[in-house]
Amino acid sequence: MISPLPVYLDYNGTTPHDPAVLAAVRPFLDAEFGNPSSSHWYGIAPKQAVNRARRQVADLLGCQPAEIVFTSGGTESNNHAIGGVARALEHRGRHIVTTAVEHPAVLEVCRDLAGRGFDLTVVPVDGTGRVDAARVAAAFRPDTILVSVMHANNEVGTLQPVKEIAVLARQKGILVHTDAAQSLGKIPVNVDDLGVDLLSVAGHKIYAPKGIGALYIRADTPIVRFCHGA
Ligand SMILES: Cc1ncc(COP(=O)(O)O)c(C=O)c1O
Repeated sequence: MISPLPVYLDYNGTTPHDPAVLAAVRPFLDAEFGNPSSSHWYGIAPKQAVNRARRQVADLLGCQPAEIVFTSGGTESNNHAIGGVARALEHRGRHIVTTAVEHPAVLEVCRDLAGRGFDLTVVPVDGTGRVDAARVAAAFRPDTILVSVMHANNEVGTLQPVKEIAVLARQKGILVHTDAAQSLGKIPVNVDDLGVDLLSVAGHKIYAPKGIGALYIRADTPIVRFCHGA
């Protein structure tokens, strides 16, 4: 029989839930409902699960669990990374470099900062959507504090030369952020191999429920955290 529904092919938009993910999550929507921050019995299993999840994400990215901050998704991770570094380093410089093909969750944050006294350079891309690393480096200035270049593009899948850009940025003491929402789960993503200081993850692109993401923050990276407390 022909299905009355259109065929779903937009896995870069979002993925359905993997049954293994549902099975892992279900106990915590049911009997294991405790607050992981609670010191009593009901908090123990949820806390262990959060720690295990943090370790799994860290293993996936090749970093330490303490370098993972859970977020609500790619948008929050990008906002936290760029806004947090801008606030932490504004005394040192107010220039940020990014590319013309970033997701709005990067470009809009940068534009918002530009409206608050930061300077923004948006480097154009070629006909395949790829940015030239040398062209990005040519935009660096003594007051550049951050460069944000996505790993894989969400519209056309182009892979950006993040590793090359990171080498050039680090020579100048510039922090490097990459939005890996579209690459994680499809190609290897390792923070040391890429040489990045911050990396954004969106769970719902890799079979997790909506509303889950992560931000990798390399140890000792100057960043103002959005959330304090529990
Ligand atoms: C490259 C990229 N960055 C960020 C996002 C935003 O992620 P989220 O939907 O988890 O907020 C998306 C989602 O479309 C994306 O493709």
